[in-house]
Amino acid sequence: MKLAIHGASGRMGQAVARLAASEGATVVGAVVSHRSALLGRDVGEAAGVGPLGVAMSEDAASGLLGAEVVIDFSRPEAVPHLLQLAMRARVAVVSGTTRLDATGERLLVEAARVIPVLWAPNTSLAVHVLAKLAAEAVRQLGPSFDVEIVETHHRAKVDAPSGTATMLAAAVREARGDGRVVAGRDGEVGPRRDDEIGVHAVRGGDVIGDHTIHLLGPSERLELTHRATSRDLFARGALRAARFLAGKPAGRYTMADVVG
Ligand SMILES: NC(=O)c1ccc[n+]([C@@H]2O[C@H](COP(=O)([O-])OP(=O)(O)OC[C@H]3O[C@@H](n4cnc5c(N)ncnc54)[C@H](OP(=O)(O)O)[C@@H]3O)[C@@H](O)[C@H]2O)c1
Repeated sequence: MKLAIHGASGRMGQAVARLAASEGATVVGAVVSHRSALLGRDVGEAAGVGPLGVAMSEDAASGLLGAEVVIDFSRPEAVPHLLQLAMRARVAVVSGTTRLDATGERLLVEAARVIPVLWAPNTSLAVHVLAKLAAEAVRQLGPSFDVEIVETHHRAKVDAPSGTATMLAAAVREARGDGRVVAGRDGEVGPRRDDEIGVHAVRGGDVIGDHTIHLLGPSERLELTHRATSRDLFARGALRAARFLAGKPAGRYTMADVVG
């Protein structure tokens, strides 16, 4: 599989570069922002796996040349341009970038008419199992249990709440048939309303990503937790998704399709 990496100098991009070969992928392009301190550096050297013969470039169009799939872990504002270029070059897209804006969401839909597209706020298999478990728990426990989601991430994370927490809240809302997501609470907020789904962001240290779904009922509570101990897990999931997407017809795919 011939692979381009968009956001190649980032924490996730570097993990993808490091693990690509072991997952059967050859890196043919590596794209970074025009401000990147790593512009021009070999992507494999920067990732600590030795030279791969691919210099990091701010030119996304040439970064996609010869690629079958591009894996994107970048910034929301960079995703629309990438999708336009990928459509033009007929390159499948796996994007893990969280908190896309309306333009990014619209372009995902447009691109899926032309190329295979998979966007996932979390590329871990276990997190998708967690979402299913949470939905099942909500259905079985019923409306007398309040649901609050707490996510913890490293101090450098720039967005909140995490894309994964938002995805988990959506799974809970779907299982309940209603729900109003409340991100954090501050001041005279009054008593908790029955339809609230609380989402709370903790930031600090080097935590890669923890998510706990609290189901709080009368006299008892259930907590479902996922903890990531290495970014490799997300990179492997994205590489697995890329392998799945290569050669597929145009369309919108999810991690559920990849894990079967
Ligand atoms: N789906 C998942 O499982 C999962 C897991 C972890 C993280 N994420 C998400 O993935 C994204 C990246 O996370 P990270 O921790 O790797 O962040 P990061 O370390 O800040 O890396 C972001 C990367 O994007 C690049 N970039 C910024 N603007 C760009 C542009 N216009 N064109 C091309 N590249 C551009 C940056 O380049 P320079 O800084 O070098 O200029 C850098 O390489 C975030 O949205 C995060 O929430 C998703």
